[in-house]
Amino acid sequence: MSDDVFDEVGLVAKNLHASYGAVEVLRGLDFEVAQGKVSVILGANGAGKTTTLRAICNMCNSSGDVSLGGVDISRLGTAEIVRKGVAHVPQGRGTFPELSVTDNLLVGAYVRKDKEINDDVDRWFEIFPVLAERREQLAGSLSGGEQQMLAVSRALMSRPKLLLLDEPSLGLAPLIIEDLFTRFTNLNKETGLTMLVVEQNANLALDMADVGYVIESGEITLSGPADQLKSDPAVQEAYLGA
Ligand SMILES: Nc1ncnc2c1ncn2[C@@H]1O[C@H](COP(=O)(O)OP(=O)(O)O)[C@@H](O)[C@H]1O
Ligand SMILES: [Mg+2]
Repeated sequence: MSDDVFDEVGLVAKNLHASYGAVEVLRGLDFEVAQGKVSVILGANGAGKTTTLRAICNMCNSSGDVSLGGVDISRLGTAEIVRKGVAHVPQGRGTFPELSVTDNLLVGAYVRKDKEINDDVDRWFEIFPVLAERREQLAGSLSGGEQQMLAVSRALMSRPKLLLLDEPSLGLAPLIIEDLFTRFTNLNKETGLTMLVVEQNANLALDMADVGYVIESGEITLSGPADQLKSDPAVQEAYLGA
């Protein structure tokens, strides 16, 4: 199937289930990310956010239908899903602390064989100038916010169609989160990158998103346009400290 089809349908997950041993953690989730848009899944600690991203990548015991650009990817192995264009920034970022910033980016390009890899390094350095300033520095010496920018840039080195971001705000100070999310919003607007973000930080995540979902104990309890969710009394009360 051609890439054009993705332009219409993005990511569609239907009846997504996952379990750890006998414990069912995702109980039939339905959600979508339209091509070029940002969807966010909000939920408290333990709600199933990380597992949802792992289920999309077939990194846990899951069932249901997941398609990318109309292509069923639910029965593919993780490596094949990456080749189909899914990039996953795990919770805790997953950069290589002992490698330089530049080398972290080059590692992110390992699935590619083209000659434009260095152009892409320069491109992410333009979008995240602080990384360019620190290109020779070890990733482990970056601040939390810088590491998150590096983790995203590294994931983008595979030229994904879809970026999965697991709690990018975790462990960061409020002002840093605000700056980071503004950068991610700009990234989406400038490149048309399709993103699925899972977050506890509802307020800022909803500002970044087009569509939002609320997950509680492995079930979606609310969904809708992000601006509508933001003014929803239930969301206000549970997540926005109203
Ligand atoms: N590897 C695992 N083995 C057993 N239970 C797990 C494992 N990972 C997560 N869980 C459980 O699954 C539920 C959902 O976890 P998770 O998806 O990590 O939630 P969130 O990312 O929203 O905090 C939690 O109850 C958690 O304790
Ligand atoms: Mg998590």
